[in-house]
Amino acid sequence: MTFTDLLPLTSEVEERRQRVSLSLDATRRADLGQFFTPDPVARFLASMFDLAERPATVLDPGAGVGSLTAAFVARWAAECDSPLSVTACELDTTLHEELRATLDHCERAADVQAELLGANFIEWATDRLGGLRLAEHPGFDYVVMNPPYRKMASGSHDRLLLRSLGVDVPNLYAAFLALGARLLVPGGQLVAITPRSFANGPYFKSFRRDLLSWLGLRRIHVYDSRDTAFSDSDVLQENVVFLAERSPERGTVLVTSSAAPSAVEMTSRDVPYAEVVRPDDGEQFIHLTPHADHADVASAVAGLPTTIASLGVTVSTGRVVDFRAKEYLSAQPTDETVPLIYPTHMSEGTISWPKESKKPNALIACAETAALLLPAGCYVLVKRFSAKEERRRVVASIVRPGDLPGAMWAFENHLNVFHSSNSGLAPTLAAGLTVWLNSSAVDVAFRQFSGHTQVNATDLRNMRYPSQAQLLALGEVAGLSVLDQEKVDALVADHVPGIRA
Ligand SMILES: C[S@@+](CC[C@H](N)C(=O)[O-])C[C@H]1O[C@@H](n2cnc3c(N)ncnc32)[C@H](O)[C@@H]1O
Repeated sequence: MTFTDLLPLTSEVEERRQRVSLSLDATRRADLGQFFTPDPVARFLASMFDLAERPATVLDPGAGVGSLTAAFVARWAAECDSPLSVTACELDTTLHEELRATLDHCERAADVQAELLGANFIEWATDRLGGLRLAEHPGFDYVVMNPPYRKMASGSHDRLLLRSLGVDVPNLYAAFLALGARLLVPGGQLVAITPRSFANGPYFKSFRRDLLSWLGLRRIHVYDSRDTAFSDSDVLQENVVFLAERSPERGTVLVTSSAAPSAVEMTSRDVPYAEVVRPDDGEQFIHLTPHADHADVASAVAGLPTTIASLGVTVSTGRVVDFRAKEYLSAQPTDETVPLIYPTHMSEGTISWPKESKKPNALIACAETAALLLPAGCYVLVKRFSAKEERRRVVASIVRPGDLPGAMWAFENHLNVFHSSNSGLAPTLAAGLTVWLNSSAVDVAFRQFSGHTQVNATDLRNMRYPSQAQLLALGEVAGLSVLDQEKVDALVADHVPGIRA
């Protein structure tokens, strides 16, 4: 049998996926993270495994209607004659009939025996892995998953169960990965499609350490645009697909990328493990660098001499959380208010205030809001969430004393604010930082270690910067002018040796 002979299996499941996706209850869908994998993506996941011809077991936790199982079985049947035992775990009983139909089809298509496990995967896996139970069950040779994406409250039942295994993770998808890793036999392989967010950032630090201690990354595939993997649902996550092996070996990692699952063109590079996860990096960031030229820019930026702290500069998120300060918000400025700056006030590297928009322009200054204010001065603002149509992920504006009235100002929480001990920065340094942050080099470097669309203050703190002298030179030349991207990049290339994007 060839892979194409088995297309009816995956096509039938694809038809089932589309039909069931339309009938899902919206609340349950959000609660259980029900975004089912389209057939081309499912087959791509199945193609990542390095299959061996011997009887094997495969686990699909959070199986939905069984799209990943079907794609795996289709490949298995095309390439292997050995028997395969499938375990598909799905919590939502309303999906069981459809999932069982997929599993029945798998059993007819190949030497497959398939079990539907109607259980909470976290409960089932922690029970199986806990205490002496582990010895009773051999692990799985293959785990394939598109786990549910949802935050887990810190006191939740699932989170307590996970802690009993020493696993502390903020999101359900990380829990599925941590358990999947532990359920593999030595030499077993895991392929998953997940958000990119675990690759960096403080929330996932202990998860990364844990996962990377169990598994060696073998291949990582990055989708270049934000919304392609699940284009028929409204998932706006950036996704990665990866293959990891339960093995102590840490060789090279194949890093690939494509614009979308349907795209024929794929970039591909073998990257030494130490470049993907730097051995001396306490954060254990996973650097995803599918483009060789981008990798050069990213490592040039990572090699810059200066930390933001050594410049005497701090980055914090804006202090005004608007829904908590509702009663003090004012649509327009009055005698009692101070300017309140939102991302919407940022425009081409500067500030445009006040503005007609849904957002208020001002905050009432009183004893209750005093701690939310900063003295007028030069600040650099970076949006925490870039708009989808924005070319760059890191978008910076400078605000100067002449831009806004009054002695005190307020910055809303969707902004990162560069300041010096809660006061303004030296004007030329602020101008230089703004040019630097708006450069293509920073954007490329940022994308290498950040998968989420969010720009965290921590990310900005962890990045490297040009020297103070270089930033001052940038600020000097840029002055008050508004620069287009080409000019910004040309200035950076002129003043920061080794940086060219
Ligand atoms: C992102 S969907 C993916 C479904 C399927 N693997 C696919 O790729 O199409 C995640 C699935 O996990 C299920 N799920 C959510 N929480 C679960 C849990 N605690 N245990 C088992 N399944 C769960 C959801 O009902 C949903 O079907």
